[in-house]
Amino acid sequence: MELKTDFSLKAFNTFRVEAVAARYVRFDAENEIADFLGRNLLDGKRRLVLGGGSNLLFVDDFDGIVLHPLLKGIHMVKAARQHLRVRAMAGENWDDLVAFAVANGWGGIENLSLIPGSVGASVVQNIGAYGVEVKAVIDRVEAISIDDRKKVFFTPKDCGFDYRSSNFKGTWAGRFIITAVVFKLSRQPEFVLDYPGVKAVVEDLGSINLETIRQTIISIRQSKLPDPEQVGNGGSFFKNPVIDGNAIDRLLNGYPDLPHYPQGDDQFKLAAGWMIEHCGLKGKRAGKAAVHDKQALVMVNLGGATGREILELSEQVKGAVHDRFGIKLEREVLVVPSPGRISSLAAQPG
Ligand code: EPU
Repeated sequence: MELKTDFSLKAFNTFRVEAVAARYVRFDAENEIADFLGRNLLDGKRRLVLGGGSNLLFVDDFDGIVLHPLLKGIHMVKAARQHLRVRAMAGENWDDLVAFAVANGWGGIENLSLIPGSVGASVVQNIGAYGVEVKAVIDRVEAISIDDRKKVFFTPKDCGFDYRSSNFKGTWAGRFIITAVVFKLSRQPEFVLDYPGVKAVVEDLGSINLETIRQTIISIRQSKLPDPEQVGNGGSFFKNPVIDGNAIDRLLNGYPDLPHYPQGDDQFKLAAGWMIEHCGLKGKRAGKAAVHDKQALVMVNLGGATGREILELSEQVKGAVHDRFGIKLEREVLVVPSPGRISSLAAQPG
């Protein structure tokens, strides 16, 4: 365990913006978490559980305590003919887990290749891509309750998974530290290839298997999404909005090409990136903050931008989409501290 004061979080957020935490504690083993919580250092302080920092935008220093579980380890815990259970510690890198599963012939998460972040954060965010969401393969989530130091186990139902969301991100925020996740993977996976463009690329690679699907997803992601090692970003900055049948009919009258995907129950998901591009904002710069020039749903730090600059540009994007399409975009990225706490910024909570 390491406890620090006035600790820079620049290396711990993929936007690579500067922000200083009043206190920061890193945990390398589960028992360190309970020991630390027993010292009552958190009383009355704001807290932030940090994962890979790939879905966070710091817009100011953090005056509370950052809890950073970096627990490592991946083990198969149960194997049956069709399925197996793999327990990964929360601090494992998500894509290392995907690579490990694919190399072993275990299916279920190959479409989630190359998503930045940690195993613990994959649950908080219910990460998703190319037709798969992580909730489909979660068997159990292990956590420590911050208030009473008890170990708790959650089923997927408990977690309240939704599109890019869960109870850990919503009503339970700041209450639990996820320590490990058990995934149910498959030895005879059913491949999910129906996302536009995926099948054609995988077929070009010859045979369809876990390896070629992983390669396909990696190449599609690399062609559109900036590598956080090279350009600071937090993936999709906004969620794709979901609207009902009447609303989609009205929009399609004016914009017949607007990509939309039926979700069942008369609900349709819209491509926010398309709307942003049609507002003429793809590639738009404001100082060192920018809308990515290959995928307009992604905000980037071209080097040296502050979190506030990125947030301000994102608010312009939000305003432009609202003015043109009448749609209110919601942030997928978590802004810390929440904009409501910063008096000089007239940002609306996402
Ligand atoms: N589009 C444009 N212009 C743009 C961006 C997109 O016209 O600048 C169009 C595309 O041509 C396509 C449609 O919008 O017709 C959808 O684009 P894309 O396939 O790139 O996916 P997305 O909806 O923008 C979502 C997820 C991504 C995920 C991909 C693939 C959200 C908020 N984003 O993006 O997730 O990788 O689908 O499944 O749901 C993330 O959450 O951080 C993330 C990257």
